[in-house]
Amino acid sequence: MTPVRVLAVASEVYPIVKTGGLADVAGALPLALKAHGVEMRTLMPGYPDVMRMLGGAGEIRRWPDYFGGPGRLLAGSHDGLDLFVLDVPHLYARPGNPYVTAEGVDWPDNGLRFAALSRIAADIGHGLVPAFVPDVVHAHDWQAGLAPAYLHYDNRPRPGTVMTIHNMAYQGKFAPELIGSIGLPWDSFNVHGLEYFGGISFLKAGLQLADRITTVSPTYAQEIQSDEGGMGLGGLLRQRADVLSGILNGIDTDVWNPQTDPHIAYRFGAEDLTFRAANKAVLQQQFNLDSSDEAPLLGVISRLSWQKGLDLLLEAIPTILGDGMQLALLGSGDRDLQDRYQAVARANPGRIGVVIGYDEILAHLIQAGSDALIVPSRFEPCGLTQLYALRYGAVPIVSRVGGLEDTVVDIGEASTSDRAATGFKFAPVTVEALTGTLRKANTAFHNKATWRRLQLSGLATDVSWRNRAGDYAVLYRDLVAARRT
Ligand code: ADP
Ligand code: GLC
Repeated sequence: MTPVRVLAVASEVYPIVKTGGLADVAGALPLALKAHGVEMRTLMPGYPDVMRMLGGAGEIRRWPDYFGGPGRLLAGSHDGLDLFVLDVPHLYARPGNPYVTAEGVDWPDNGLRFAALSRIAADIGHGLVPAFVPDVVHAHDWQAGLAPAYLHYDNRPRPGTVMTIHNMAYQGKFAPELIGSIGLPWDSFNVHGLEYFGGISFLKAGLQLADRITTVSPTYAQEIQSDEGGMGLGGLLRQRADVLSGILNGIDTDVWNPQTDPHIAYRFGAEDLTFRAANKAVLQQQFNLDSSDEAPLLGVISRLSWQKGLDLLLEAIPTILGDGMQLALLGSGDRDLQDRYQAVARANPGRIGVVIGYDEILAHLIQAGSDALIVPSRFEPCGLTQLYALRYGAVPIVSRVGGLEDTVVDIGEASTSDRAATGFKFAPVTVEALTGTLRKANTAFHNKATWRRLQLSGLATDVSWRNRAGDYAVLYRDLVAARRT
C-alpha cells in the first residue's frame, strides 16, 4: 500500500474546539485512516483554546503581515492528532464560539478569517512545509472552501483536492468586494468560480473547483442534488454528480464506549444492559425528573436550530405527557426555542427536564440513561447522536432524512431487509408523524423482549470508522492515480 499524505482543513477539531459534528469527524477520521496507510495532518485556526492546548507547538514560519497583522504557522500534536495551527491573533484570538460574537452575530470579518485559513492550506499544498507535502488537500465545509480555489487559481502544479459538505445550510456567503483583499484574481468572480447569485460563496467555490466532492451519507448525496436539498447549489451538484459521493460518518468508538466511559454513572456492555437503569436514575435526578423505571425516558442532545425539527417535538409534548413518557433535553441555540423549552420544563416538573447549554459530559450520560434518543430533523447530512445512541442502547427515533435514513433500521423495515431493526423512523417530518411514532415506540418499550432486541441490534451495529475510513482512503488513492495520468 503506497502511503498517501493528506492535509485536512477544518475549522473545528474534537477534543480541541467543537460546536458540532464536524469536530467529531475531523478529530476521529485521521486516527482511523492510519490503518489504511493515509498520513493525515489537520490544519486549523489558532483559536484561544487551540493555543492553550498546543502550548508546545513549534513555529514553522512567521509573517509580519498575514492578512493584516502578524501571523505564524505552527506544527504540533494533541491526543494522537498531527496538527498545523495558523496563529493569527487579529483574526482568531477571540473568546467563545469560533464563528459568532457573544451576541450571536457572525464576526464581520469571517470572510477574511477563513480565506486566511484556506490560503495557508494551499501554500502547504504547494510545499511550504518540506517535511509534509500533501498528495491531497481535503477541505471540510465552507470555512475551508477557498482552499481548492486558491490551488486552482495559483496555476502551479498542485495536489488533488476534495471538498466535503457537512451541511449545505452554511455556505459562507460574502460581498464580491472581498475578492480584492484575499489575493484571488478578479476573474475568479464568475459562474465557474466564486460567483454565487451576485455575491461570492466559499462553499460554492469549493464545490465548483475541487476535484472530488463528498458528503457525509449516501442519502444526503442524493438529496442535495435536488433544488430543495441543494439550497441553491442543487444545479451545480447535478452537473458534478460524476465526482460526488456519499461516505457515511463513523464515530470514535473509544471516546464513545459504554464499557469504559468515564462520564457515565455505571458502565455497561451488551451482557449487562440492566445497568442502564442505574444511569437512568442518575439522569432523572440531574434533570429533576420523577424517579421511575417504568416511564420511558426520551433524550435529546442537539443544537437548537430549524434544521433539527425540535419545534415539532415541542408540539408533541402533550403526547409525551399524556402517554406517560419523560423528556430530558440538552441543547443550545435559537433563543426562542431555548425559552420555549425552559417554559415547558417549568410547567411540567418531574416530567420534562431541560438543560440549556453545551455539556459534553452530560451528553454521555443522556446516551447511557435515556431509553430512546429523538432526532426529528428536517434535514440531516449524517447526524452523530443517533450513532452514539446505537452504541449506548438508547433506541433512536429519527426522521427519515439524510444520514438518519441510512443509519437506523426501522422496526417495520426489518422484515423486508436483511438488517435487524434498531429503532423507529418517521416521515414526513410533521408533528402527526412524530407523535404517531412516539406512541408506537412507547408501546414497544413496554414489551421488554421487543425493546431488548432493538437495543441489542443497535449495540451490534458497526458505527465505527474502521470501514468508512477505508472509503476515504480509496477516494484519495483514486484521485492521486487519476491526476498522474
Ligand atoms: P450537528 O453537527 O448538525 O450539530 P451531529 O449530530 O452531527 O449534528 O453532531 C452533534 C455533536 O454535538 C454530537 O457530538 C453531539 O453529542 C454534540 N452536541 C450537540 N449539542 C450538544 C450540547 N448541547 N451539549 C453537548 N454536546 C452537544
Ligand atoms: C453537520 C451535520 C451533521 C453531520 C455533521 C458531521 O454538522 O449537520 O448531520 O453529522 O456535520 O458530518
